[in-house]
Amino acid sequence: MKTLPARENYNHFPCLWKRRTCETVKHHLYFTRYVYGVTESTMKVALVTGGVRGIGLGISKSLLAEGYDLALCGSRSVDLVGAPLDELRRQVADRKIAYYQCDVGNREERLQLVESVRRDFKQLHLLVNNAGVAAKVRDDLLTMTEENYDWLMKINLQGPFFLTQDVVKWMLEQKTASPEFFACIVNISSISATVASLNRGEYCLSKAALSMATRLWAVRLAEYGIPVYEIRPGLIRSDMTAAVTEKYDKLIAEGLVPQHRWGEPVDVGRAVAMLARGELAYSTGQVIMVDGGMMIPKL
Ligand SMILES: NC(=O)c1ccc[n+]([C@@H]2O[C@H](COP(=O)([O-])OP(=O)(O)OC[C@H]3O[C@@H](n4cnc5c(N)ncnc54)[C@H](OP(=O)(O)O)[C@@H]3O)[C@@H](O)[C@H]2O)c1
Repeated sequence: MKTLPARENYNHFPCLWKRRTCETVKHHLYFTRYVYGVTESTMKVALVTGGVRGIGLGISKSLLAEGYDLALCGSRSVDLVGAPLDELRRQVADRKIAYYQCDVGNREERLQLVESVRRDFKQLHLLVNNAGVAAKVRDDLLTMTEENYDWLMKINLQGPFFLTQDVVKWMLEQKTASPEFFACIVNISSISATVASLNRGEYCLSKAALSMATRLWAVRLAEYGIPVYEIRPGLIRSDMTAAVTEKYDKLIAEGLVPQHRWGEPVDVGRAVAMLARGELAYSTGQVIMVDGGMMIPKL
């Protein structure tokens, strides 16, 4: 039998929302996981797109710490993601973590992803639409090509929008089967949703539209008690920003970011964990800035 961690460390079952019964049931579930072993019907499951690199990996780590089992996807084949998966498995030994190669911009692959998660996990409480790409070429608006625009929009906008559609249908089934079922959706947009960068207009457009997608889904799903949020990161250290490290190191040193540092993937991860815990239960459709104060207007 495993040693039970401190009781204050098991406050992580957002599907059990009713405060009055929460303590008793949480203790029961806690007991189930640590004493009798994990059972599929009591565990929380999150699907994180792009969950094995950069910000997505930070989100995965935070959700593991929250008690989630993880379904992760990315564009790389499974034989190329051994290192991040091992890192996650070392963090928590008794958790289920599965990886699926899936191009979120491809309809067939998205459908296959949802089917696989359904087969392997039987339930899904949280979808984090994190996967995204930067502009293929940093091009002026006058020369940006439709091919590059289409490629990016499919991944950054069409993918998360329609993955949400597929996942929501399944979440509603789960909700019908069990009214206690808690679900939540989080979209990772960018400060580019409102900041105009003339050499990557398609990226800005995709994030502005993802922001509206968040509000649309928030209103559509409010009656079912499924909150939908947008996290809007600023400058976060990842492979996506590696090429511009020097430029932003200098700008940060000059005061671009009030908190005087790069954001780290775990900064975004912690924000997702907070939302997944239901800490902002009466705030569906809202934007959570994770930008070190960069977007505060200053004089
Ligand atoms: N870094 C920042 O400063 C910053 C700021 C604001 C917003 N964001 C947003 O945060 C999200 C994550 O960015 P990041 O910085 O972590 O970027 P990253 O290090 O480049 O990671 C991107 C992730 O998305 C996955 N991905 C890319 N194309 C995909 C596709 N077609 N299908 C499925 N997965 C795909 C990648 O898969 P693989 O693992 O297979 O490569 C990877 O896991 C993006 O939506 C980005 O726009 C980033």
